[in-house]
Amino acid sequence: MEENDTIIRLQHVCKEFDGLKVVDDFNLDVKRGEFITILGPSGCGKTTTLRMIAGFELPSSGTILLNGQDISLLPPNKRPVNTVFQHYALFPHLDVYDNVAFGLKLKKIPVEVTDRKGNKKTVMKHLDPKTIDEKVSRALQIVDLDEMEDRDVSTLSGGQQQRVAIARAIVNEPKVLLLDEPLSALDHKMRKDMQIELKEMHKKLGITFFYVTHDQEEALTMSDRIIVMKGGLIQQIGTPEDIYNEPINAFVADFIGESNIYNGTMSGKFKVRFIGAQWDCIDDFPLNEKVDIVVRPEDVIMLPPGKGVVEGVIASKIFKGVHYEFIVNVGKNEVLCRDTHDHEVGTTVSLAVEKENIQIMHKELTENQYVDAWINKNNEVVIGEDPFPCKVETLIPGGKLDDDGYVIGPDGKKYDFNDADVVATVGLDVISLSDDLSSGHANGQIINLVWIGDHFQYIVRTDDDEDYVVNSVYSWNENDLVAVDIAPENIKLRLKKDPSNYVVD
Ligand SMILES: Nc1ncnc2c1ncn2[C@@H]1O[C@H](COP(=O)(O)OP(=O)(O)O)[C@@H](O)[C@H]1O
Ligand SMILES: [Mg+2]
Repeated sequence: MEENDTIIRLQHVCKEFDGLKVVDDFNLDVKRGEFITILGPSGCGKTTTLRMIAGFELPSSGTILLNGQDISLLPPNKRPVNTVFQHYALFPHLDVYDNVAFGLKLKKIPVEVTDRKGNKKTVMKHLDPKTIDEKVSRALQIVDLDEMEDRDVSTLSGGQQQRVAIARAIVNEPKVLLLDEPLSALDHKMRKDMQIELKEMHKKLGITFFYVTHDQEEALTMSDRIIVMKGGLIQQIGTPEDIYNEPINAFVADFIGESNIYNGTMSGKFKVRFIGAQWDCIDDFPLNEKVDIVVRPEDVIMLPPGKGVVEGVIASKIFKGVHYEFIVNVGKNEVLCRDTHDHEVGTTVSLAVEKENIQIMHKELTENQYVDAWINKNNEVVIGEDPFPCKVETLIPGGKLDDDGYVIGPDGKKYDFNDADVVATVGLDVISLSDDLSSGHANGQIINLVWIGDHFQYIVRTDDDEDYVVNSVYSWNENDLVAVDIAPENIKLRLKKDPSNYVVD
């Protein structure tokens, strides 16, 4: 990239709060005029990153450059950036015009004057009313509120108020507009309309938009490039197409769009095994390597029985306008598929996938991830077919379990997680193995072991084909039968759907 194409550069930017890293080694070049978006789940560090660019937080380490100049320590009002916040506050007693003009009326700019003795000097002066008027009119025109100058802001709709907040930020003619989930307070329809309008404003203004959202659809439709973050770390940077078509790991694939994600094992040259069948693929990884498989629903081909690679039974069907969406049960796995043809629930179909549409990724063996886990009526998490006691209340931050097994949120809302689909993750170091097969919550066979420096790494496979990768200093042999146990607090749980789906009254 040409150096002067870069407007913002973040170099090794870290932010710690109370010793905890919430942004970790963030590196990024933003191009002039780009629409760039940070996308990630709540708490991953999006707002903190934006606040460091705006100057409301200072990095714990690293530098932030704007047009090649280090601005890491400049106060917010000295930076040519403006922010539209998630919770914007307008002045309720002022009309639209005065809300937008407010900052300009306070602003002083350096003006060169000549005094009576003919000496030139620079003084700070307020903007003249005509300049203010021109600037406000232009900003209101861009957000399409030029007809509403005199309206009281309290009489405006949510979308119109949001546009006032944007006008107030762009009236200062910033080089970069920072937008922190600006549409999150709007309803679905309004949000869709505003997405299109924001895109148009971006075009009209020609400045850089740095956007933050947890909504993948919003990020995909609006951005030139997306940065996917998780736990303070950048996972992937790319165009919406890159990120959708070539997710770098299972987290990104799961977070962006709908996808089928499975555990797979390389079973030969250009062959991979998952959901109980062998598939042709175009990636050549070492034999027996554990991989993540991603298949997009639109890439699954539904055929009459016997014509595809694996057989399944249609468990559900939803009409989506242009196509139908089906869930096909293949053994214990679910395959989400799309087809423009109708099929009845209960029919057996055969599934195929073009080999180039099977995305294979190196598994990060830093944790076990079970993307098809669910919570049973005893508040246990079921991995494969094995129930493990777990801390179901951790599904809601600050949640507590009541006597009847419901989870009570900090806001008093009550949740019933029976049958909820979850992703369960378990570290490699917190799984214990035992010869006493009655002692754990699952039994399996050691199918693989390697010595890594000072410990063994085992793969334990259960009857229902679920694998546990376990680090241990104790030694077992291949084919040994072992019990698998995990302390409840070591099973990390994440809901697949929004918590609101589980609220009961
Ligand atoms: N001022 C602060 N003091 C302590 N912790 C903070 C502060 N601001 C944010 N955090 C923590 O940093 C993490 C990232 O927060 P944030 O950047 O707001 O995430 P996001 O915007 O992605 O939801 C969270 O765990 C949050 O609790
Ligand atoms: Mg935030």
